[in-house]
Amino acid sequence: MKILSLGSLNIDLVYSVSHINLEGETISAREMERKQGGKGLNQSVALARAGAEVSMAGCVGADGCQLVDTLKKAGVDADFIQEIDEPSGHAIIQLADSGANSIIIYGGANRKITPEMIDETLSHFSAGDYILLQNEISNVDYAIRVAKARGMKVAFNPSPISEELLHYPLELVDVFVLNELEGQTLSGAESAEEDAVLAALSQRFPQAVIVLTLGEKGAMYHDSQRDLTCPAHKVPVVDTTGAGDTFCGYFLACTMKGQEPQKALETASRASALAIGKKGAAVSIPTLAQVESAALV
Ligand code: RIB
Repeated sequence: MKILSLGSLNIDLVYSVSHINLEGETISAREMERKQGGKGLNQSVALARAGAEVSMAGCVGADGCQLVDTLKKAGVDADFIQEIDEPSGHAIIQLADSGANSIIIYGGANRKITPEMIDETLSHFSAGDYILLQNEISNVDYAIRVAKARGMKVAFNPSPISEELLHYPLELVDVFVLNELEGQTLSGAESAEEDAVLAALSQRFPQAVIVLTLGEKGAMYHDSQRDLTCPAHKVPVVDTTGAGDTFCGYFLACTMKGQEPQKALETASRASALAIGKKGAAVSIPTLAQVESAALV
């Protein structure tokens, strides 16, 4: 069983600041670093480091060589990444001393993925294979429809939230990995309180496995047979960027290996705790050996 991660690749411009900039305020950054990121790239790296056989598809510009190198070094098949005549996507990330972040993304090449590219890529995958999507590329709705028609299992991390999200064929999604706000948007729950969101999501999408990530409160899981919870590990926060992507990739990789959902949640939780302890997105994603050997409380 293979997994295709069809998603974004971003050059992350990370500005280290004392606090997240307020409206109308000008502040100086102590440091600026270029790193590799994008939800698609991060989740692909997490899948590979967790031991899945993963291919990534997406678009970069001539400035995207390091993004492709990062994938290859992590063991991701990058043959479906196309270089096009458009700058790569990028993210402007404020990283505060508290470890909190604030992100602006510019889609660039990520928003130039066409239905034809999706058709060609998906022709290499078959029934039973997984596709993993997020919401940083063009034609996500088309990809969901075509993948499902091929008998693939559709995993969707609906991040970031957008207006168009509500018009996607979400009833075709097999696995959602999402946070409370995303869950509230998709389900129409009246509050962002986790129990209310999970109940509304499971009612709206009875066909789906739902994994609700709750940051320092851990994660919740629902499928037609069970409801589970998993606490988060208590770790010093250096940078939360990419921690959710780490959780998502690890959870799916463990699921594809046939692990029970509770075990998959626990492994994903350990992996994201380690990612939080290191600066950067893709670079902070641990290997499975690191996840298994770490002493975490
Ligand atoms: O989820 C973290 C990612 O969001 C960053 O790497 C950034 O590129 C944005 O896509």
